[in-house]
Amino acid sequence: MLDRLRRNPCFAGWMPGAALVAALAVFTFGGAVRGALCQTPADSATTAAPSGAGPADGSPWWKHALIYEIYPRSFQDSNGDGVGDLNGITSRMDYLHTLGVDAVWLSPLYPSPQVDFGYDISDYENVDPQYGTLADFDKLVAAAKQRDIRIIMDMVMNHTSDKHAWFVESKSSKTNPKRDWYVWRDAKGYGPDGKPIPPNNWVSVFGGSAWEWDPATKQFYYHEFYKQQPDLNWRNPEVEKAMFDTVKFWLDRGVAGFRLDAIPTLFEDPQLRDEPVLGGVNAFGDPKVSDIYTTNLPEVHDVMRRLRKLVDSYPGDRVLIGETYLPNTAELDKWYGGAKHDELQLPMDMLVGFTNKLDASLFRKRINEAETELNGNQPLFVFDNHDNPRSWNRYGDGVHDMAIAKLIATMLYTSHATAMTYYGAEIGMVTTTPSRKEDVKDPIGVTGWPKEKGRDGERTPMQWNDGKDAGFSTAAKTWLPVAPDYKTVNVKTESGEPESLLKWNEKLIAMRGTNRTLRDGRQVMLDETNPSVLSYVREGVGGEAAVVVAMNFTAEPQTVSLDVKGAGGTVSTLLTDAPALRKTTSLQKITLPPFASWVGTVK
Ligand code: NOJ
Repeated sequence: MLDRLRRNPCFAGWMPGAALVAALAVFTFGGAVRGALCQTPADSATTAAPSGAGPADGSPWWKHALIYEIYPRSFQDSNGDGVGDLNGITSRMDYLHTLGVDAVWLSPLYPSPQVDFGYDISDYENVDPQYGTLADFDKLVAAAKQRDIRIIMDMVMNHTSDKHAWFVESKSSKTNPKRDWYVWRDAKGYGPDGKPIPPNNWVSVFGGSAWEWDPATKQFYYHEFYKQQPDLNWRNPEVEKAMFDTVKFWLDRGVAGFRLDAIPTLFEDPQLRDEPVLGGVNAFGDPKVSDIYTTNLPEVHDVMRRLRKLVDSYPGDRVLIGETYLPNTAELDKWYGGAKHDELQLPMDMLVGFTNKLDASLFRKRINEAETELNGNQPLFVFDNHDNPRSWNRYGDGVHDMAIAKLIATMLYTSHATAMTYYGAEIGMVTTTPSRKEDVKDPIGVTGWPKEKGRDGERTPMQWNDGKDAGFSTAAKTWLPVAPDYKTVNVKTESGEPESLLKWNEKLIAMRGTNRTLRDGRQVMLDETNPSVLSYVREGVGGEAAVVVAMNFTAEPQTVSLDVKGAGGTVSTLLTDAPALRKTTSLQKITLPPFASWVGTVK
């Protein structure tokens, strides 16, 4: 297990690829084409407010939204170079619309040396040529807006690329005006071999010391991630001003908000105290240390409040989403500003989606905490992203993977939380970890091999159809190989199969979009001591029926009887993957097959 990555709240959800069972699903769906390409609109994006008027009840759009993460390299290649791009994404906008996506979070598309595939930004106000141009970006925003889809940018504030002009200047001399924009320190001393000794014992999340020596100016600089990702010094007000200016640049261009990368790591202890040593070594062979001096320092909340004010000065309910791996709900609440609600609107709740354990009691506890312990703030649940093996593999048992994937989707889309998903989750894409070190693209997979095989496995190209490269590209070679199951696991095939995972997701998402109770109703747990079945009611809103959800988390049939206070007893099924439960008329003695889900109304 990758202790250092899992210990760090920023990466608490990661698992080494080696720990995964490659549960490749074989489906036999036949079917018609969906997600037909739409024309790229000729009109360019407006710089005004993002699309959509928001829900009729006046609540901000993000409160009930489905936010869909796209990893631009892997979604759709439009120019045949084997790498996904912006025009490719634009061409798939109809698919996203049909699925019911409200907003797309684009992982970084800025110019970048691509050491960390875009998370090392060398220019915050442009588009990397391999993904397109700013004009392409504007077209993408306009095409999304036509379909009521908003665009959310990934904003990396903790660090830049070492090729960013700011760092190039900062590195040029100790007296450069930008020297203090990064975290530079003298060596602690010199070893008997004359080698400089780093200022303290801090280790990089990506392996090795977090300090890199610059022989020219004879100082170390700090990097939480790769050495090509030097940390900015947020104690210098000029840094905040420069970064907030880039935020304005994109807000002016019409984006609906930001996903804030690694945001708890913005500040470091000014005294640079050694981290407490935890004992043992991590996947990279480094001593395991705590992160109390490098993560979640209180100062970050002042910056978040100022950033929120900036974002709120724009029309259209722009949103701040946080990459917030945190130890508990109380810590998560701080990222909203608690009862003051003056920081992020949607820090990600990683406590629900990354339990990595199919345990009904644990999900009940965590979901309930989000419902009741966040000062009325809106939770954001997420089960998949580009840093973690796909939920199909993290939760699947190798036998009931399809039912389990449906169960996870049910939990996500019938909860009170805003939902976030990751391309390919809707069709059941699996983690496809490279089997040879020489094939690995993610640098941590090279340095950590074989204990840490990197994140390539969850970044393989989107599977659109059963043709060449799964419809992702026309290139002879794609940047990562298409997963071998694409002949059966793909959008086109699953579109024609009524029982497919894609259809299941579409139905859930549509239901959530139209059922007011599913949007707004309080989520109250039922049958609270049941270790096998997770069930809850979404209390009826505006005279609408309550919605009841029951999910069997075990490989054996389970019978439940559910008591919903105030309900008269007229029960009808909205959705189930258990044919025998389609005609359910009572909440007494419902027998759920292994891993089955049932969603119904009760009046
Ligand atoms: C978190 C991102 O999700 C991950 O992909 C990246 O490597 C690190 N932050 C560093 O930016």
